Amino acid sequence: MPGFESFGDLERKEVQDVLDSGVLMRYGFDAMRNGHYKAQSLEQELQKTLEVNHAQLVTNGTAAVSVALALAGVGAGDEVIMPCFTFVASFEAIMMLGAIPVLVDIDDTLTLDPEAVKQAITDKTKAIMPVHMCGSMANLEALKTIANQYNLKLVEDACQAIGGTYKGQYLGTYGDLGCFSFDFVKTITSGEGGAVITNNPEYAKHADYFTDHGHDHIGNDRGAESHPVLGYNFRLSELHAAVGLAQVRRLKDFVAIQKKNYTILREALSAIPEVTFRTVPEGGEESYAFLSFFLPDLDIARKVSASFKNSGVDACFHYYDNNWHYVRKWDHLKDLKTLYPFSKEVKDGMSYLKNKSFEKSDHYIGRNLSCLIKLSWTEAETKKRAELMVEAIKTSL
Ligand SMILES: Cc1ncc(COP(=O)(O)O)c(C=O)c1O
Repeated sequence: MPGFESFGDLERKEVQDVLDSGVLMRYGFDAMRNGHYKAQSLEQELQKTLEVNHAQLVTNGTAAVSVALALAGVGAGDEVIMPCFTFVASFEAIMMLGAIPVLVDIDDTLTLDPEAVKQAITDKTKAIMPVHMCGSMANLEALKTIANQYNLKLVEDACQAIGGTYKGQYLGTYGDLGCFSFDFVKTITSGEGGAVITNNPEYAKHADYFTDHGHDHIGNDRGAESHPVLGYNFRLSELHAAVGLAQVRRLKDFVAIQKKNYTILREALSAIPEVTFRTVPEGGEESYAFLSFFLPDLDIARKVSASFKNSGVDACFHYYDNNWHYVRKWDHLKDLKTLYPFSKEVKDGMSYLKNKSFEKSDHYIGRNLSCLIKLSWTEAETKKRAELMVEAIKTSL
């Protein structure tokens, strides 16, 4: 998801404004700023682009998830239902709040299976957290129905899917809160960074306080501000925000390029009857950050993955064998290897993971390959890549 591939003069200009003013912090120093408020401008630009009322910048996507869950009232001993195919940040962000991640199966969307979610609900469940992996989404309508039925919050991790939509709404705006990452390998980047978005004014107010030590940001004397709530420091610097500001203005162009390249690859692979594609829920449109498809079985998927590597088709992931994205390899989580003591409640609450199997997810992740779509490919390069992929698959069947 490489926004960095298209880093250039627009980003340089925004960063130069910050360097010229010398104000690297988002709050205060009004006289020195020459009118530059890059963090604020980026928040406004996100609101406009994603058609949402509030955006709050934070330091990274992991922080975005923690902050969103905190705003939703998730805390000590609460359970959050999340998919077993995601990035490790999902359970980290939950555990940071003293809460318990409840991992459940995915389905052929490669995201949360609504049936598995229903079965995992207990009286401790506080939130459902779909993760829109690899540019496409969970069945948000089904999840919202469940959330409403059980009075739970729906928090969307859209870190890997900015620009995708569901029933005409940008991903991240359908649930109570949405989360984004702008780390170096996301569709748009600020180097490091993230955002929480919401249409709920109460969450927005608390996000403003919580991400800056509880400051209420009233008046122009930081030392005199009051603290309506306890908070932390998740502030993004003006330098990072400047890069993000240039990038978010290009998001729609990036998504259009991704779609073009994705379509060339997908059309080529569609000619192979043994290849099927992830299900995109009705009314959804991917961000086209990845092309995700299924092969007939695990062995073939492993063969194709190796064959892609040998033939120079890079950035295709077989997540079944990957340490970062699938529960199968998360021994540090299953063994609770923490640097500091966890509460008994969390330890007990997570003991289920020792013996839980994820057969349904194994069935999908074992057969899935997800290939990154780059912005910098020419049409000829994309077509060549499609040919190599088709060849590698056919020889592995
Ligand atoms: C789905 C998902 N959630 C959260 C994150 C965390 O983002 P960050 O790297 O900005 O902390 C990532 C990063 O890869 C991600 O893929």
